[in-house]
Amino acid sequence: MSFIEKTVARLEQEAVLEALILDLGRKHYRYNAAAKYYMFVGLEFIDTIRPFFEDKWTTELEEAWKALFRYLTWTMSRGYRAEEQSGDSVKSTAEEQPPPLKHIPPV
Ligand code: HEM
Repeated sequence: MSFIEKTVARLEQEAVLEALILDLGRKHYRYNAAAKYYMFVGLEFIDTIRPFFEDKWTTELEEAWKALFRYLTWTMSRGYRAEEQSGDSVKSTAEEQPPPLKHIPPV
């Protein structure tokens, strides 16, 4: 939860955010926590917070949270893979584009 708070606070600083999440992905390689499960954590997170919003919950809000977790999943997976390749630096190619990081609208 505090990591998500940190993430949301850095939505306007994408380079800082990316470094933070890549490092989290590297740690998860060391925790032996496979990348294929990351998005499930996001979907569970969304299911958990939804009831607290009551009638303020909107499709737009749900899409923004999903976009955030797609970005987290994608970036953590890159960190995971870099660590898997024996601590290599993170590579990115022109074809590899991150999912768009949408801003969370105010409620
Ligand atoms: C969106 C997905 C996820 C996020 C944002 C996330 C976030 C975090 C954070 C912030 C920590 C603390 C990192 C630290 O040591 O400084 C952590 C630790 C950990 N995570 Fe995740 N995590 C995710 C998915 C998963 C999944 C899918 C697994 C298991 C399959 C997992 C297993 C672990 C384990 C084993 C630890 C270490 C716990 C400990 O030190 O006792 N995580 N995670």
